[in-house]
Amino acid sequence: MKDHTILVVDDNRTNLQIIRDVLEPHYTLQLAISGEMALKFIARKKPDLILLDLMMPGMNGKECFQEIRRDPDNSRIPVIFLTASQDEDVEVECLNLGASDFITKPIVPEILERRIAKTLELEDLQKNLQGKIIEKTQEIEVLALQAIRAIVQTIEAKDELTQGHSVRVAGYSRAIAAELGFNEKMIGQVYQTALLHDVGKIGIPDSILKKKGRLTPEEYDQIKQHTTIGANILASISTIAYLEDGARYHHERYDGNGYPQRLKGDDIPIIGRIIAVADVYDALVSRRHYKEVMDDASARHELLFGAGTQFDPYLVRIFIKLLDSGAIEKIKHETELRP
Ligand SMILES: [Fe+2]
Repeated sequence: MKDHTILVVDDNRTNLQIIRDVLEPHYTLQLAISGEMALKFIARKKPDLILLDLMMPGMNGKECFQEIRRDPDNSRIPVIFLTASQDEDVEVECLNLGASDFITKPIVPEILERRIAKTLELEDLQKNLQGKIIEKTQEIEVLALQAIRAIVQTIEAKDELTQGHSVRVAGYSRAIAAELGFNEKMIGQVYQTALLHDVGKIGIPDSILKKKGRLTPEEYDQIKQHTTIGANILASISTIAYLEDGARYHHERYDGNGYPQRLKGDDIPIIGRIIAVADVYDALVSRRHYKEVMDDASARHELLFGAGTQFDPYLVRIFIKLLDSGAIEKIKHETELRP
């Protein structure tokens, strides 16, 4: 079976015939007598390799090559130039342009056959390698995400009252991101990032986290550290670079009075502003050591009250819309982690 298709472009029909005789037993061939014709062929079906005559009337080989490469989809098709020129400068120029190889005429069948086989072999190897790299990268990402889940479970196991908090905040954040028109990939990143926003609480003593009643200023200062501690932990997961911003910025306030960096308005990365709304809403409507549950109407009122001071007002509007549509209520009862 012929595995590869080769497009041969040469204005000289005798040459085409010779090449055809040599290659036809091994490959599927497309024969073009001009650069223009070659481009039409490529638009219809991508060959695995192009054998391109350099000197042709009309569009010459170099122009044809540049036209082929203009389309990013064609950037990987190997091209071997054919020319009668013995000029080394021409050879170097073609290789500089990005040609895979160079064959001089008159054609020696053995050389033509071997060079083509070599180029195709290299190309197949490269494709294989790329496939393997993509596969391995995905494996690493899955592993990292599994680690994330383990970390989330660790945070939640620390305190029965905050159980489900991370998963709900992630769910709300995902819904906000979708409403903002983020693409699927970004929505997934927002979800994973929000899931880990409180990971730094691992570094805060239980006596402070579970304290009933008011915190002393020193204790409050210690609690504030969870943003930086979390960001530093997440920065160490170098395969997923986006995770740390959620932990670092989710307690910044729109008016610049938040922590840890007192960033203001749109200087706060969007992920921080998204999680801030989702996080506070969930805290309001959940029972905590220091407070009872608040009903949805009051929570809604609190969010609107904080629009423009604590929160990005546009994101509050989006969240209220999600509350009104019932989307938030649905997410509230999700306890399973999403993929
Ligand atoms: Fe937090």
